[in-house]
Amino acid sequence: MILSLVAGIGKKRELGKDNKLLWHISEDLKNFKKITLGAPMIMGRNTFESLPGKLPGRDHIVLSKTMGETQGIYVVSNIEEALEKVKELGFDKASVVGGAKVYEQFLPLCQHIHISFVDFSGEADTFFPTYDFDKLELMEEKNFEGTEKTLPWRYCHYQQKI
Ligand SMILES: NC(=O)c1ccc[n+]([C@@H]2O[C@H](COP(=O)([O-])OP(=O)(O)OC[C@H]3O[C@@H](n4cnc5c(N)ncnc54)[C@H](OP(=O)(O)O)[C@@H]3O)[C@@H](O)[C@H]2O)c1
Repeated sequence: MILSLVAGIGKKRELGKDNKLLWHISEDLKNFKKITLGAPMIMGRNTFESLPGKLPGRDHIVLSKTMGETQGIYVVSNIEEALEKVKELGFDKASVVGGAKVYEQFLPLCQHIHISFVDFSGEADTFFPTYDFDKLELMEEKNFEGTEKTLPWRYCHYQQKI
């Protein structure tokens, strides 16, 4: 099973506030779509609740011990069940799309780590786990300049041997 973690983080590893994202960068959203299309996405309940709705073209596997059955998504109550569900759906890969609690548990399990480092400083209540990205192998790096509307950001694709 190939797992790819996808996250956007601020200067202090900020991820979100009040169960919302902290910035809107359309190029980053396009990149997220490109990376995640064609495989199921595994996410925590809070992240699922933060979405405006189901994202098209991808199965949603939501980790939760409190959520009831919900139409259109797969609710699972632990990591093993999440991975089983991926297989059951006929895939041998999945994306892990947050939030903090889910990243923390899946970091040691993901061969691919896609991080958007966003030039954001500000208030947040959810942070990516402390992590030394330099220990990973950098496969691709791309810098994006800021515009009037968006913050500058840098996309990095890392690999780790599991
Ligand atoms: N910047 C980014 O790239 C990015 C990406 C994703 C999310 N976010 C932000 O992150 C925030 C949400 O993150 P979060 O850390 O609060 O929540 P989260 O990780 O999305 O969800 C946490 C919930 O998931 C369930 N869960 C997690 N691990 C589980 C396990 N092993 N087994 C069963 N259930 C499990 C639990 O739900 P129950 O309580 O129901 O059991 C837990 O309370 C939001 O602000 C969101 O906008 C940012």
